[in-house]
Amino acid sequence: MSIIVTGCNRGIGEGIASVLINNGYQVTGLNRTRSALADIDEFVQSYDEINCDVSDPEQVKKAIAKVGNVEAVVANAGIRRFGNIEDLSLKDWQDSINTNLNGVFYLAREVLPIFKQFGGYFIVIGSHAEKYPFGQGSAYCASKLGGRAIVDCMIDEARWDNVRATYLSIGSVKNREHGGDESWKLKPEDLGKVVVNLLKLPKNVLIPYMDVRPAKPLRDDKDSIEKLQFV
Ligand SMILES: NC(=O)c1ccc[n+]([C@@H]2O[C@H](COP(=O)([O-])OP(=O)(O)OC[C@H]3O[C@@H](n4cnc5c(N)ncnc54)[C@H](OP(=O)(O)O)[C@@H]3O)[C@@H](O)[C@H]2O)c1
Repeated sequence: MSIIVTGCNRGIGEGIASVLINNGYQVTGLNRTRSALADIDEFVQSYDEINCDVSDPEQVKKAIAKVGNVEAVVANAGIRRFGNIEDLSLKDWQDSINTNLNGVFYLAREVLPIFKQFGGYFIVIGSHAEKYPFGQGSAYCASKLGGRAIVDCMIDEARWDNVRATYLSIGSVKNREHGGDESWKLKPEDLGKVVVNLLKLPKNVLIPYMDVRPAKPLRDDKDSIEKLQFV
């Protein structure tokens, strides 16, 4: 039985896949770019990957058929395209929806028949953008909010067939250098630990939604009443 992690050639997905492997799980990466994880000697027995663009339903279908027995999916692959609604290119809108939302749906529809036979866990790597929308974020926020709906609908449809699902609404993660002090941010491996803990929960426990944020973000020196002016 394998755990699928999409987009694990870098960033959060790579961190999640590494922690899963180090905790004894068998991981299959669905990546459109080859991962360095495939070249790590100690991971040879526990990691393999399939070339897959998650925005292409046919590629997702073939990849899941190739994996066969899937015990869990971590739908992580995602892109960020920003711009005011009237300026955002149609391509940026469509790419965002195709990857961040349609990609999650394509995965869900391929793995659900397998999950319904053996049980399974579907985890969506979401974002605070889902509940704190912001200017220039229509494509990202809408696509991330949609992932939450898929999780809730999946639970309503399939919980009696031993299917569990969680939407992880995630705050800031340090996945590359942006300059400045980023030591307060979550690390990709922290999300790996969250995923492992979810997978280890007793099977009678269902957590549809989890908000994961840095414990100590940079202090905001505005007092509470002042913050109101920025809403
Ligand atoms: N970083 C944060 O602070 C943060 C916060 C909240 C939520 N998130 C979410 O966490 C997830 C990962 O983000 P990240 O920060 O790790 O981003 P990242 O470093 O840009 O990595 C994105 C990953 O997704 C893959 N990917 C993108 N489109 C794909 C497609 N069509 N098919 C297959 N793989 C695809 C990328 O592959 P390529 O290398 O081929 O492009 C890459 O592996 C995203 O869903 C994002 O929304 C991130």
